[in-house]
Amino acid sequence: MNLAGKVVVLSGGASGLGRGTARYMVREKGARVVVLDRNAAGGRELVDELGDGSCRFHETDVTDEAAVAAAIDAGAAAFGAIHACLNFAGVVSPMRILDKEGRASNGARFRATVLVNLVGSFNVMAHCVEWMARNEPDADNERGVVVNVASGAAFDGQVGQSAYASSKAGVVGLALPAARELAELGIRVNTIAPGAFETPMIKSLPDSVLSRIASDFQFPKRFGTPDEIAGLCAFLCESGYMNGECVRLDGAFRLPPR
Ligand SMILES: NC(=O)c1ccc[n+]([C@@H]2O[C@H](COP(=O)([O-])OP(=O)(O)OC[C@H]3O[C@@H](n4cnc5c(N)ncnc54)[C@H](O)[C@@H]3O)[C@@H](O)[C@H]2O)c1
Repeated sequence: MNLAGKVVVLSGGASGLGRGTARYMVREKGARVVVLDRNAAGGRELVDELGDGSCRFHETDVTDEAAVAAAIDAGAAAFGAIHACLNFAGVVSPMRILDKEGRASNGARFRATVLVNLVGSFNVMAHCVEWMARNEPDADNERGVVVNVASGAAFDGQVGQSAYASSKAGVVGLALPAARELAELGIRVNTIAPGAFETPMIKSLPDSVLSRIASDFQFPKRFGTPDEIAGLCAFLCESGYMNGECVRLDGAFRLPPR
């Protein structure tokens, strides 16, 4: 897919990797973006920065299916179509399986994490795909493309990350059945599993965890940047033969057990 002039929906686009990718899609690729996020201040800042001819923001919780549908419908009405869907909205929520007294932890945090990271990605993907199915196919019979953002934690989940890691493993598992099911519509689905990127989410971790991560960097010996994720998103959108795949972007970094 040539991204110039295309309409790209980004969930979680008001901060961090999603925000960097929204900027990149507009500035480097000439796309227009529809951002869904519950961070209203960040979303409004992005519209001010990119201009409302290129960027629309809808304050949306991705777990609220009706709100997701309304936001995507409004984005499609404003820009005429939906061609790509990039799912960044996510939360990291450390939790132990047993509490300090050895009792089973309340499952509320587990459920909430899966609901945002996995069910939220499904909700946004499904409503975008409904619009993509109406597009005229291009010369390669393509109508749309989806990129879901998982995490290296899907493969190397740490102690205390059972909710986050398993929700992200679910995101990895979504790509192939979705790619197979949507093949007849000419819609591709891929996944990115980032390593450690400098964003508000990672900065929220304790300094001890951050320095432990930094000591395990291979090459390059640094955090990744939002532009590096954006470049991979653009590649996955543009490269018509990439489908049903999960790409790790981590400079050979692997999360240690703790
Ligand atoms: N930063 C990293 O190193 C890293 C590593 C692996 C995976 N990831 C994944 O990349 C994605 C982006 O992370 P980031 O580092 O940019 O974090 P971030 O916290 O900067 O951005 C996440 C965005 O998602 C939004 N969001 C959270 N819950 C939402 C909900 N229910 N509805 C709508 N929006 C919601 C937040 O408001 C925020 O704007 C996440 O899915 C994260 O799990 C990040």
